Amino acid sequence: MADGTQRTAAWDKASLTALFDPATGWLDRRVLSDAGLYQLELERIFARGWNFMCHESQLKEPGDYLISYIGEDQIIVVRDEKDEVRALLNTCRHRGNALCRAEQGRAKSFVCSYHGWNYALDGRLIGVPGQSTFYHGDLDKSRLGLATARIESHLGFYFATLADDAPSLHDYLGVTGRAGLGMICANGEIEVVEGVQKNVIDCNWKIAVDNLFDWYHVPYSHASANTSGFLDIAAIQFPKDQLVMLGEYGHAIGGPGIPRAAQAQIDQLTDEQRSEMTQAQPQGSPRIRPKAAADLMGPEGVRSQGHPNIFPNLWVTISGAQMCLRLPRGPSHTELWWYTMVPKAAPPEAKRQIVRSMNHVFGPAGLLEQDDGENWSQSTRSARGFASRALGQNLQMGLGHDEVKVGAGGEHYIDGLISEHGQRWLYRAWTEWMSARNWAELKANHSAPPVGTV
Ligand code: FES
Ligand code: FE
Repeated sequence: MADGTQRTAAWDKASLTALFDPATGWLDRRVLSDAGLYQLELERIFARGWNFMCHESQLKEPGDYLISYIGEDQIIVVRDEKDEVRALLNTCRHRGNALCRAEQGRAKSFVCSYHGWNYALDGRLIGVPGQSTFYHGDLDKSRLGLATARIESHLGFYFATLADDAPSLHDYLGVTGRAGLGMICANGEIEVVEGVQKNVIDCNWKIAVDNLFDWYHVPYSHASANTSGFLDIAAIQFPKDQLVMLGEYGHAIGGPGIPRAAQAQIDQLTDEQRSEMTQAQPQGSPRIRPKAAADLMGPEGVRSQGHPNIFPNLWVTISGAQMCLRLPRGPSHTELWWYTMVPKAAPPEAKRQIVRSMNHVFGPAGLLEQDDGENWSQSTRSARGFASRALGQNLQMGLGHDEVKVGAGGEHYIDGLISEHGQRWLYRAWTEWMSARNWAELKANHSAPPVGTV
């Protein structure tokens, strides 16, 4: 096979749907290792979905740009001279050279290092060496601007898609996706700290994603963090007070949640009282959010003390102070990009303190991430073995034992024990995205968030 594209032909709708059984929680391990499936993911999930690009605080002035990705397609995200944020494919229309090599910076235009074609910040081709001599004036520059992606924002977070027929970002995120982004802004305006930390783990990107819903592994995988005194896991896990939210198109939130009765009491408090209560609590206690947070996260979402995932690959961590993009790099590798967010109005020393403490939790130097990466890598490796990949994965925890209710804000939520509802929702959505050939099919055939027993 020349490039893997041909192999995708082997995966028709029936065989894709059979890869995960939501009725039993059985997952075919080839989902985590097959090269043809990976190629199909680039087309049917990443190119079609809304992919996180950046936060508005990362592009302050006209000319500010950074490189991000839609799957393996490099995107230049840039604020142009008219103050509009644009998403341009980072590939020269002459011979395909990567136009922009720096990860971020400020530019007046983008000049290709191969033959010198020059593109404006809005992607127009504005300069071609030898246009009148070597090209004899034949080159139509107006047809050779950079290819563009659609870009839209919510709460200052920019996302891009290569699908013209995708729903608006607002509709795509739905209640659950918007609650997830709202968690970051729940305490007021934020900015992204300079310097995104990037590292590669030899795991399939979906293992990294499904793990964020997994609160079963926490006391076991992260026992050393507990033993060393870095974390009091018993104080943060709340195994019997878990809140899962299931959203349209695969978004979900999973992890601990403030029980409804306790939240009803918090809802009566002023912001001053909430802040006093927060200060009086021991470390690891639930985060008591200000009143305004309910507008961003919804009346049920505001109870969440867990992790949102914006489908497909943007993890918002429990604190709302870190996000991680899980960028696919082949079926067996994932590039992780870690962002730290701080309150915009905080004094510099307070911001530095947040960065210091966050770096010790997740990210390449984070105590927790190192435990996780090892498990993800070994689970991916065994999905490649001839005999071991023939065995399924078991995702049955909680199946048939819980009930999805609908909150006043339209949230589909489950209050219960630690479970694998979030993971099952992820793989159910994955099979629906993968087996739909276009947005029309996906819109018509995807699962609405459920109600009742799951
Ligand atoms: Fe860019 Fe030739 S490849 S100018
Ligand atoms: Fe973990």
